[in-house]
Amino acid sequence: MLKINPAVAAIEEETAFTVMDRANALRAQGHPVINLGIGQPDFQPPKHILEAAEKAVRDGPHGYTSPQGLPALRDAVAQYVGGRFKVPVTGDEVVIVPGGKVTFYFACQIFGGPGAEILYPDPGFPPYRDAARSSGAKPVPYPIREEKDFGFDAEEVLSLITPATRLIIINSPANPTGGVVSRAEITRLAHGLAKHPNVAVLSDEIYSHQVYDGVDFVSFLSFPELRDRTIILDGWSKTFAMTGWRLGFGIWPKHLIEYVKKLITVDHSCTSVATQMGGLAAITGPMDEIEDFRKSFQKRRDMVVTGLNDIKGVRCRVPGGAFYAFPNITGTGWQSRDLARELLDKAYVALIFGESFGQNGKGFMRLSYAASEADLAEALKRMKAFIEA
Ligand SMILES: Cc1ncc(COP(=O)(O)O)c(C=O)c1O
Repeated sequence: MLKINPAVAAIEEETAFTVMDRANALRAQGHPVINLGIGQPDFQPPKHILEAAEKAVRDGPHGYTSPQGLPALRDAVAQYVGGRFKVPVTGDEVVIVPGGKVTFYFACQIFGGPGAEILYPDPGFPPYRDAARSSGAKPVPYPIREEKDFGFDAEEVLSLITPATRLIIINSPANPTGGVVSRAEITRLAHGLAKHPNVAVLSDEIYSHQVYDGVDFVSFLSFPELRDRTIILDGWSKTFAMTGWRLGFGIWPKHLIEYVKKLITVDHSCTSVATQMGGLAAITGPMDEIEDFRKSFQKRRDMVVTGLNDIKGVRCRVPGGAFYAFPNITGTGWQSRDLARELLDKAYVALIFGESFGQNGKGFMRLSYAASEADLAEALKRMKAFIEA
């Protein structure tokens, strides 16, 4: 009898991928499925990125790169991020990885292990909990609250820190709620964390370009007093519509890089070199299409929030960022898990039920509005008809 490592067996499924497979299977049977489950832009990456990657595939380089990533790309990331947030960043603090996820997975490996506690948002991106758990650490959820516009209360988060806390994961703009934590609340948290020198911070800033109505995005790089224990997670997936390319970066305190490099050499040696060349073109090229993506998302967000609030029993806050709406569906009388299943099977609209993002997601649904306006309009029409029937 094979014995599976319980830390691996305990990993839960990421519902967005299960729903995507089910939606694709239904579509293959000829059903008119609209998938608002998975969170990925429906745009094509800008052409200059495709051309750079194409050239790299044809002409090389073809070999391994440094585990940390191509030096030219690391320097470019340092300039791109440092310039955006007006903070000093150098290429030797940057680590290129195959996808945004890898950075928090590594942070959990480095700070987790038996006896450690890792704080993460609930509702939040499900792999945070599982990355913490699979390291052997205890994942400890902190609440994200609808009444705080899907932000957190810094005092409440700080009150969950114990002598065993090693890492806190923060995500703003957030998946699944679209919430953006205010500058005041982030600053309160940062000031509080200054009193806990044993706690590292992982700030997942993968949606930093998707903010609307002039909302103020605050990078955790803005707190120099925490810089020697702050890790920034970002990447190309959401910003440049490159989810399938698997390309992300972390900005790490220099004293942690040796551990990250060890994990990379054990795990994957380096990130695909042609992908890195595409990533270099992305962050050194024109950004006007990225701004166009953002404007389209904002328009779709407005349309989706209006449409959701027009469904009896549904109420939806206006999310400040990312490309998700997180409507409260308690007024419909449905449990969110049942409603998600029925909407997919009967109305062919794929959404994600709220509990898959944690206990506090109960009574909510996540809808990704990174889809065409026509699909969004049709999905809203079907949802309204189904729920009000
Ligand atoms: C909050 C958050 N962080 C990280 C990721 C992972 O990004 P990537 O696809 O680059 O691994 C996602 C993807 O959905 C996300 O929502």
